[in-house]
Amino acid sequence: MHQKIIILDFGSQTTQLIGRRVRELNMYCEIVPYNKFPHNDPSVIGVILSGSPFSVYDEKAFKTELAGIRGKYPLLGICYGAQFMAYINGGTVEPADSREYGRAHLEYIDGTDPLLKGIEKGAQVWMSHGDTITSLPEGFKIIASTDHVPVAAYRAENEQLWGVQFHPEVYHSECGTEILRNFVVDICGGKQDWSAASFIESTVNELKEQLGNDKVVLGLSGGVDSSVAAVLLNKAIGKNLTCIFVDHGMLRKNEFANVMHDYEGLGLNVIGVDASAKFFSELAGVTDPERKRKIIGKGFIDVFDEEAHKLTDVKWLGQGTIYPDCIESLSITGTTIKSHHNVGGLPEKMNLRLCEPLRLLFKDEVRAVGRELGMPEHLISRHPFPGPGLAVRILGDITPEKVSILQNADDIFISGLREWGLYDSVWQAGAILLPVQSVGVMGDERTYERAVALRAVTSTDAMTADWVRLPYDFLAEVSNKIINKVRGVNRVTYDISSKPPATIEWE
Ligand code: XMP
Repeated sequence: MHQKIIILDFGSQTTQLIGRRVRELNMYCEIVPYNKFPHNDPSVIGVILSGSPFSVYDEKAFKTELAGIRGKYPLLGICYGAQFMAYINGGTVEPADSREYGRAHLEYIDGTDPLLKGIEKGAQVWMSHGDTITSLPEGFKIIASTDHVPVAAYRAENEQLWGVQFHPEVYHSECGTEILRNFVVDICGGKQDWSAASFIESTVNELKEQLGNDKVVLGLSGGVDSSVAAVLLNKAIGKNLTCIFVDHGMLRKNEFANVMHDYEGLGLNVIGVDASAKFFSELAGVTDPERKRKIIGKGFIDVFDEEAHKLTDVKWLGQGTIYPDCIESLSITGTTIKSHHNVGGLPEKMNLRLCEPLRLLFKDEVRAVGRELGMPEHLISRHPFPGPGLAVRILGDITPEKVSILQNADDIFISGLREWGLYDSVWQAGAILLPVQSVGVMGDERTYERAVALRAVTSTDAMTADWVRLPYDFLAEVSNKIINKVRGVNRVTYDISSKPPATIEWE
């Protein structure tokens, strides 16, 4: 059993980042809602309390009972987590005179404190808070300060309890990893034995035990998650795994054939289904983005279900669900911007049990597992691609002709990124077919044709994104090639919007 750090989630945007940073230290951790501490789990060795969008004195603030946790495990509070532990012990937390966002430097450091071991005076940290701790409870002492924040970090004397006002988990806190390492390894006694190889070994054993001789069916999308899940399951149960790859006709150019070829090379037993005619007919004339998504989601379930019923004795549905999809969200607004869950409803419809071997992994860990399993790099480092595919990149209604135009433009763009060595520095890229025609001139002819937008973004988790500053020479070459080679396109634009306020996909 792996040792485990528990991260109590009070709703901060950076809670998942704390989890990732701890995992990067080869230390296994789980994120649980602030009030769902696993009291009976013997593998827990330490607890981190996250930040929160609330103030501790808000009526609606998330509050948790620390009885049974405090004194039993070392505790580290981050931002709200630090304020909360100070507040419930009689400290004072007040709105800061000026809100503190951004870089700050630790000008005073108690070098004898184990949490700050090795951290130099002047170390940069990242602040993001509207409240500040103005007085500490009795028995608590300051262990670090910045020019503006006297209580930048504290410790409860004679107790394994620390709080930091800044965010060690964010990239700009240069000493953040060191502080988390000090907590997890030195203070909690973490053995740092969590790795892709150890995950594969233990998961393959668990899958063998869980599945025995049962048969499993799994839907492949060509993406990293479902592919890694399939290879892992294949390693555990071999021929008892059948994969189904549905071509809805809205994939990239030649993608179906290329990916089928890759899958066969990996020894997977894959049934490829060309269902594009069905999808084209159901999508004809549909312009609303959410309706397109619903039609494709339902169509996918129908095709998958029909194929799976041709197999006998299947008991399980394998899925490539990953950790960010599972972490119980403490979302405060609850607004759906786009419905991304393409195949929600599949397990219920098929009456199968769910097997999700990657459900505890972050995306970068899924990639590490794929590499460790010997999967080809081009499958592992592929850009994300939306389930409904080019359907949400053709604005307005969809026809086979439009799909073909977009496939050709997209192919020139993506191949260009690879040729110029830019593909891996871009998080996601693609072409979008716009519902406008504009005037151009080719030779002596006036043209009145379509416009294509190119989009390339950097991101870490798709929650926020920025457009990539691609070289002008590259954009010029791609634009020329698209206009010269793709019939029906006479104009190319580059999307320079960030997310928020724009989104990555146009629909
Ligand atoms: P947005 O457009 O919301 O996209 O900024 C964020 C990420 O999600 C992908 N995306 C989808 N993925 N089904 C999916 O599987 C969908 O319906 C869908 N819509 C957007 C998008 O490509 C980006 O990576």
